[in-house]
Amino acid sequence: MPEALVERAREALDNAYVPYSEYTVGAALRTADGEVYVGCNIENANYSNSLHAEEVAIAEAVKNGHTEFDRLVVTSGARDGVTPCGMCRQTLAEFCDEDLPVVCDLGGDDVAEYTLGELLPNTISLDTLEAAAAKRDAADTDE
Ligand code: THU
Ligand code: ZN
Repeated sequence: MPEALVERAREALDNAYVPYSEYTVGAALRTADGEVYVGCNIENANYSNSLHAEEVAIAEAVKNGHTEFDRLVVTSGARDGVTPCGMCRQTLAEFCDEDLPVVCDLGGDDVAEYTLGELLPNTISLDTLEAAAAKRDAADTDE
């Protein structure tokens, strides 16, 4: 039996809207307090407005007041172990620690598991901008 979060991600595939790629993606994101938010990809005729499953899931979670997460599962109809794209990795990094497990569905009970830090090392973050602001402030004070 696959873990429950994998099942939730697979269920989310049912609502994927993919008339262009025909490649369905589902995501299930678990909050620190155990709630689960799911997302699917939603494509658009202009292509670039297409929403990714992971960003739909995280938007829904944040919209409902959650900013701490402890596990993400990503799946596709192809069960090919799809990982979050670069953009989604950055979106996740805004709210999730480097040690967030990112579980990628390979079908049946098989998964490939990474951490967010493995998938996106050295990301820009709020810390980066705050450190730069502190440096500017220190330089202003020196003048
Ligand atoms: N896709 C996602 O939903 N998440 C990702 O991070 C990778 C790509 C979607 C976008 C598009 O609808 C389809 O997969 C093919 O790229
Ligand atoms: Zn993406």
